[in-house]
Amino acid sequence: MKEYRINWVLLLGLLAPFLSQSAAASERVGNFALLDHKGAYHQLRKYGDSKAVVLISAASSCVENIDQLAKYRLLRTTWEQQGITFLGIDSAAEDELHQVRLMDELYNFDLPIMLDSSQLVAESLGISKAGEIVVLEPNRQQVLYRGGLDIDPVRARPELDIEARPGTTMLADTLAAVVAGELDNLDGTITADVQGCQLTFPAREQHARQVPDYATEVAPILAEKCVSCHIEGGIAPFAMDSHMMVQGWSPMMKEVIMTKRMPPAQVDPSINHFTNARYMEPNQLQTLIHWINAGAPRGVSEVDPLTRVNPPESVWQLGEPDYIVEVPGFTVPATGVLDYENVTINLPFAQDQWVKSVQHLPGDRRVLHHLLSFIVPADYDEEIIEGENDSYREFLEGYAPGKDEAVTYPEQSGVFVPKGSAVQISLHYTTFGKETVDSTRLGLYFAREEPKFQYSTYSLSHGGRNLVIPPGTSEHRMSASHVFEDEIMLHGLRPHMHYRGKHMRFSVIYPNGTRADIINVPDYNFAWQPTYRLTEPMLLPAGSRVMVEGAFDNSQYNLGNPDPDATVHGGAQSWDEMFIGYFSYHKTAAQ
Ligand code: HEC
Repeated sequence: MKEYRINWVLLLGLLAPFLSQSAAASERVGNFALLDHKGAYHQLRKYGDSKAVVLISAASSCVENIDQLAKYRLLRTTWEQQGITFLGIDSAAEDELHQVRLMDELYNFDLPIMLDSSQLVAESLGISKAGEIVVLEPNRQQVLYRGGLDIDPVRARPELDIEARPGTTMLADTLAAVVAGELDNLDGTITADVQGCQLTFPAREQHARQVPDYATEVAPILAEKCVSCHIEGGIAPFAMDSHMMVQGWSPMMKEVIMTKRMPPAQVDPSINHFTNARYMEPNQLQTLIHWINAGAPRGVSEVDPLTRVNPPESVWQLGEPDYIVEVPGFTVPATGVLDYENVTINLPFAQDQWVKSVQHLPGDRRVLHHLLSFIVPADYDEEIIEGENDSYREFLEGYAPGKDEAVTYPEQSGVFVPKGSAVQISLHYTTFGKETVDSTRLGLYFAREEPKFQYSTYSLSHGGRNLVIPPGTSEHRMSASHVFEDEIMLHGLRPHMHYRGKHMRFSVIYPNGTRADIINVPDYNFAWQPTYRLTEPMLLPAGSRVMVEGAFDNSQYNLGNPDPDATVHGGAQSWDEMFIGYFSYHKTAAQ
C-alpha cells in the first residue's frame, strides 16, 4: 500500500509541471449579491479588499448552528483582524425574514445574515447544509474551502497521510494559507464533511424534473420586468424581442440578476411597498436562473411571446394637456459620457396656477435616461442647490424609462405654480453609437379648482458644500433629520447622492418615541434615482422626526467612482457629492 502511494507521488511529481494548472484550479463561482437581515447589501466583488470571505450557512431551525455559535465567534475573532470577512447566509427554503431576525435576536450571531430566499446563491456555491462553511476568494471568485467547522485533517483528506495536529483544522489551514499569501499553493477547492442540517431545494428539484418553459413561464417574467426598457427603440443596449436574442444574452442576464443590478431601482422588499420599485420574487429569480442554467431552451410552444410586444407609443394619456412645455432639441452625440443638461423654460401664465397632473414624453427613448423637473422662478439658470436660494422652488416630477405614464398628485392636492415661474428640467442622456436629437415635452394639466392641499417636496440635506469624503473609504456615513411641525401625508421618497452614493435609508421617529422604517435603498445607483411612490401613503403626526441615514463609497470597489484617490467635497457637479433625502407630501390640514 505504502509503496503504491509513493509511486503515485513520484508520478505526480514528474507530471506536476504539466498538471499544476488544472490540478490547482479551485472551483469558480459567479459574482452575487444579497441583502442581509438588516437590509444591508453585500456583493462578493465589493469585498475585494478582504483576503477571503467566509460564509457560514445558517437556518432558523438548525440546532447545530446554535451549538456552534461560540466557535463561530472564536473563528471570527481569530481571523477578522487578519483581513478576512465573515458573513452568515440563510438559504433554508422555509425561512422567512422574521425568523432570521428572531434567530439573531435570541442567539446573537454577531454577523450580517444574508437572506438567500431564492436559494440561488447556495446552489451556485454548492452549499447543501446549514452549518456548512464556505471560504471564497473575492477577486478571483474561487471557492477555497467548503465543509464543516472542526474537521480532523486526517479524516477529511486521508490521501494526504499527514499526522493529526491537535487544534488545527482544514478550515484553519486554509485561512492560514490565505493570510500568508499562499493561495497558489492550495491545490483546488478543499472539501470536508459537514455535521449540519440538510437543506432542501424544492425549486431546483422541480426545475430539474421539468425545465421552466420559455413561452409560458420565462417570457412573461421578462415581459413584465425587463422589456419596458429592453425593447426596440428603448434605453437598454439590447432588445429582448425574441428567444434567440434572450438566449444569446442569457449568461450576461444571469450575472446582472444574481448581483441585483437588473432590473434597476430595486429597494429592500421588507420595508413598505412602492408602486415603481422593481421587485423580483424568489420564484421569478429561480425560474429565470434555472432556465438559463439549463441552456435557455426554446421549449415546444409555437408562439414566441416576446416577438409580439409592441414598443410604447408616445401619447398623452390624459388627453391634450392644458399646457405643453417644449424642451429645446438637444443633440446627443454618438458616443461619450454626458453630464446633466439643465434647461430653464419660462412659463407664460398670467396668474397663479395649480398643477394636478403631469406627463413627460421623451423625444428619443434610446438616449433619455431620466430627467427631473422643478418649478423655479423665471429665468433661473443655476442648478438647484438646497439651502442656497430662498425663492419658491418645487419638485414637479421625474421621468425614468419604462415608467413614463402620466402622474396625478394625490386627491385634493396639487403643485402650486406662482405667476412668474419657469420649469427647470435636469436631463440625463446616454449615448448609443449614433447621433440623435432629443426633443422631450412636458404636459401640464391644471386643477379645475384650487386644491385643498399643496403637494410639496421637502429636501432634507446634510451640509452641501461642507461635505468631505476621504479617498479610498468604502463606508463614509452621514445622516440628517428634520421635524415636520404639522401632520403630513407622505407619498414619495427619493434619495439623492452622486457617483459615490452607496446606500440610504429613510425612517421616522413618531412623537411617542417609536420608530418606523420608510424606505431602504441598499445599493444606491446614481444612474437610477426615481421618486419611489408609497403604495399606501404614510400619515406622520405633527412633531414626527424624519431621518435619512446613508453612506458613500469612495473606494475602487465602487465601479461608478470617477477617482478613488480624490478627496470629495460637496457641490453641484456630479463629481462633487450631495446627500439629500426628498420627501414628497401634503399637509393634512387645509392651508
Ligand atoms: C428601467 C429600465 C430597465 C429595465 C426594467 C431592465 N433593464 Fe437591463 N439595462 C437597462 C439599461 C439602461 C442598461 C445599460 C447599462 C446599465 O444601465 O447598467 C441595461 C443593461 C442590461 C444588461 C447588459 C449589462 C452589460 O453590462 O452590458 C443586461 C444583461 C440586462 N440589462 C438585463 C436585464 C434583465 C434580465 C432585466 C429584467 C429582469 C432588465 N435588464 C431590466 C435598462 C433596464
